[in-house]
Amino acid sequence: MVEETQVKTSDLIFPLFLLDGRNKKVEVSSMPGIFRLSGDLMLKEVEECLSLGITAFDIFPAVEDQYKDKTATRSYDENFFYLKVLKEVKQRFPEACVMTDVAMDPYSSDGHDGFVQDGKILNDETLEILGKMALAQAATGIDILGPSDMMDGRVGYIRNLLDKNGFTDVSIMSYTAKYASGFYNPFRDALDSAPKFGDKKTYQMNPANKREALIEAELDTEEGADFLMVKPALAYLDIIQLLKSNSNLPIAAYNVSGEYSMIKAAAQKGWLDGDRVMKETLLSIKRAGADVILTYFAKEFARSNSNNQ
Ligand code: PBG
Repeated sequence: MVEETQVKTSDLIFPLFLLDGRNKKVEVSSMPGIFRLSGDLMLKEVEECLSLGITAFDIFPAVEDQYKDKTATRSYDENFFYLKVLKEVKQRFPEACVMTDVAMDPYSSDGHDGFVQDGKILNDETLEILGKMALAQAATGIDILGPSDMMDGRVGYIRNLLDKNGFTDVSIMSYTAKYASGFYNPFRDALDSAPKFGDKKTYQMNPANKREALIEAELDTEEGADFLMVKPALAYLDIIQLLKSNSNLPIAAYNVSGEYSMIKAAAQKGWLDGDRVMKETLLSIKRAGADVILTYFAKEFARSNSNNQ
């Protein structure tokens, strides 16, 4: 009766990794229990998750090297598998809330989220590519765009383009306070998207900074974001709380790949009770102020929590 916080399956967004082809299911070695799936199996996965009460999905493409280039051309090619599968998922399951990733890195031969020239990531040139990508994704019928790249001005740029092209009902979940973090490595294994040189510190935030998150939140809010996201979640619970107390927008937190892998690895060794620690972790993120949690634990949580809806 006096319990202050509860995590519900409907609070969760399940990130999924998409492969080209058919009948492919490849486990991410650094994320036990998480698979890259081809489109046909992705449809089955979404169906199963919906039946478990998971209502929202964030789908990322794993692109083969031969299709990557400097300007991420495949990211807005409607014949490329990612956009085709997004469309199929929304046609088959209109009730599924589908979020996409707007960033160059899965399609970039440089492995960066921005356009690279002479070893530099160019902000404004990147926006043009992100705009084409966002429009192509919106045209598939998806619900939420997730600009995950941290270029300046991208939320306003994308919002403006969406509205001009009739996609007024597509939301933007901005990666508002995304830190340059060591916790993303398993994700980069999953997509084979690690930077080919340097790091992402010129566009992602310095983990030492807190007030800067407020500046990012103000900018994203003015530019028209519908959700503000903090990422990673666990080492940044103070940032989640800060944004929650300074904004009336829904706050999302991304419980990232490395946070998942740590718990899984310790549980496999018998050092932690995986189920218990998963629930405690999600609870802490919600208690800090997250309304929505992106987590690779979504399916496991839904199963484990199914008699407690
Ligand atoms: C890149 C992107 C990353 C994640 C989501 N989108 C990694 C990065 O910035 O290098 C990380 C997600 C995770 O670790 O679970 N646009």
